[in-house]
Amino acid sequence: MASAESLPPWRPLLRAARQREGRSPLARWLQLATVASDGTPRVRTLVFRGWAGASCLDLLTDGRSAKAAELRARPAVELCWLLPRARCQFRLRGTVLALPAEQKRAERERHWQALTPEGRALWGWPPPGEPLAASATFPLTLPPETPLPEAFRLLRIGLAQVELLELQGQPHRRRRWRAATDWLEEPLNP
Ligand SMILES: Cc1cc2nc3c(=O)[nH]c(=O)nc-3n(C[C@H](O)[C@H](O)[C@H](O)COP(=O)(O)O)c2cc1C
Repeated sequence: MASAESLPPWRPLLRAARQREGRSPLARWLQLATVASDGTPRVRTLVFRGWAGASCLDLLTDGRSAKAAELRARPAVELCWLLPRARCQFRLRGTVLALPAEQKRAERERHWQALTPEGRALWGWPPPGEPLAASATFPLTLPPETPLPEAFRLLRIGLAQVELLELQGQPHRRRRWRAATDWLEEPLNP
C-alpha cells in the first residue's frame, strides 16, 4: 500500500485541479452519495475538510441527519468532485471508517475548534430535515468553548478507488486507480 510519504498518484492530480479553482469554494465542495434504507440513492453537497492520511479524507455532518443514519446502516459512499476550471471530474469510492474512541474524540475536537463561530452554529440548530416549528431558534454563532455537541459527526472516508475524467482534449481522458492494486493507473475508454 502507498504510505503517507508516497502519496497515491491521483493525489497530485486532484491537488492541481483544485488549485486551478483558485479561491473559489468549488475547490472544497463535493457531492456525497449514499444508499437509503429502501435501496434508493441519495446525494448532497458537503465541504471537504482535509486529508487524514494518503487516501483518507474528512467530512463533517450532523449525526441527526438522514445521511448519518444511512451511513450507520451502509457505510459505503461515492463522492463526486467536479472541478470546472480544470474541466475534470473525480469520482471517489470508499467507506466511512470506525475510529478508535480516543482518536475519534481528539479528531472531532480538532475539527470543532477549526470551524468558524458561524460554521459551528449549525450544530446548535434543531434536527435537520424535521418540520420547521414556529418556536424553533437558530443560533447565528457558537463560540469555540461550546462543548462538543453529541450530533457533531466526523465522517472519515477511507478511499478504495478513484476515477478521473478529463475533458480538456479530444478524445477525453479517463483513468482509474484502486487501492487493491497499490493505486496502479488503469487507462479506460472515456
Ligand atoms: C455548498 C454546500 C455545502 C454544504 N456543506 C455541508 C457539510 O459540510 N456538511 C453537511 O452535513 N451538510 C452540508 N451541506 C448541506 C447538505 O447538502 C444537505 O442539505 C444536508 O446535510 C442534509 O442532507 P441529508 O438530509 O441527506 O442528510 C451543504 C450544502 C451546500 C449547498
